[in-house]
This record gives sequence, structure tokens and C-alpha cells, in this order.
Amino acid sequence: MPDFFIAPSILSANFAKLGEEVDNVLASGADIVHFDVMDNHYVPNLTIGPLVCQALRSHGVTAPIDVHLMVKPVDRIIPDFASAGASYITFHPEASDHIDRSLSLIRESGCRSGLVFNPATPLSYLDYVLDKVDMILLMSVNPGFGGQSFIPATLDKLRQARQLIDQSGLDIRLEVDGGVKVDNIAEIAAAGADTFVAGSGIFGFGDASDSNRYNSIIAKIRNALAQV
Ligand code: DX5
Ligand code: ZN
Repeated sequence: MPDFFIAPSILSANFAKLGEEVDNVLASGADIVHFDVMDNHYVPNLTIGPLVCQALRSHGVTAPIDVHLMVKPVDRIIPDFASAGASYITFHPEASDHIDRSLSLIRESGCRSGLVFNPATPLSYLDYVLDKVDMILLMSVNPGFGGQSFIPATLDKLRQARQLIDQSGLDIRLEVDGGVKVDNIAEIAAAGADTFVAGSGIFGFGDASDSNRYNSIIAKIRNALAQV
């Protein structure tokens, strides 16, 4: 079985109790923390920045933090997130004037780098920079909001990205983000994804009074992945 990572998107967590939410979801078996950064410019929504990433580290979170930048421009904020404890930093190629430079800047800052593809963005952005990415993130919704439905055309795109990665022999994770749920995760994994962002599909479940509240939803996700 491939090394599957479950990456809860804290966009759907209770922000008033963020540290507790992240502790709970990790204790329930999640692997990495997906951290959505929106600037009300590249996407029509506004979320959280490096201060909150740093706050999670200071709170004691040691799991990898997967920073998904939906901001334009990207370069100025990269070192800030690196200092704040980001593990992965991914960005949308349309949001950077110099994609190669942004990717290099992420690695030089000590983080793992990645490119994010909107549903209509072609994978050809990878043509000359495949050796500079540690993560390829395919959006299966248009970015900006949690709780949207998975766009089925992503499955074919995942198969293409999987083929590119396998042919290259490079160590690159293939992540999918948007509308991922217990019911569709097996099909998404079969198409080649190994890292699964789920916001409403995880934080929307669980009994608020239970500190293991996400155990059962994460167990269901692991079970579904075990069938692949
Ligand atoms: C959307 C974000 C996603 C979002 C996913 O722009 O990048 O990470 O939180 O939410 P769900 O899993 O609810 O579709
Ligand atoms: Zn995201």
C-alpha cells in the first residue's frame, strides 16, 4: 500500500479553538496539517497568515504544516512562512511572475516546494521545473472556499500527473484538494493521489465534547484507502 498522507484542511476547523482542533485531528491519526492562505486578491476570500502558523508551532504542533498559498504575489511571503515553521509551501503558477525563482526561494528557505493547479490550469507548467518541486497539488474545486463538490475531470488529470511523476523517477508527492470525502477517496487514490486534503470531509464530523472526536472519520478514511 502506498504511503498515504491525510491532510485535514484547517479552513473548516473551529478557528476559536484552533490549537485544540489541530491537536485533536492529529491525535485521531491525521498526518499533516493543510494550511490555506487566502488574500482576497488572488482568491475572493481572506484567511490566515504566518502569525497563525507560528502560533501552531508555539502551541506544540510538530507534524508537517502544508502551506497552500492562494496569494498574489507569492515571493514576499515565502520567507515569512519558512520562519513561521512551514514544512511545505505550495503556490499557484498564475500568481507568480517567475515560477522557477519562487520554487527555488522555497527550497532555499528550507521548505519543500510545490505547484498548485486549478481545475483549468494545464500541467505543462511543470515542463521545465519538475526537478524543483516536491509536491504537485491538483485542485479538484476552484480555490477560495471549503465545502464545494469534487470536479470529476480531476481524476484524469491525476492519472496524467501520476504518470509524469513515475516516469521522472523523482520523489514528488501528488496531493488533491477539494471535495475529498470518505465516499470518493478510494477512487481518487486509485487515480494516483497519495496526499489527501479534506476540510469539511473531516472537521464536519465528530462529537464536540470528545477529544478523540475525529477518530471515527479518520478511521473510515483509512479503511477506504486500504481497499485501493
Ligand atoms: C479551497 C482550499 C481547500 C479547502 C477544501 O480553496 O484550498 O483546502 O479547505 O475544503 P473541502 O475539503 O471542504 O472541499
Ligand atoms: Zn487548500
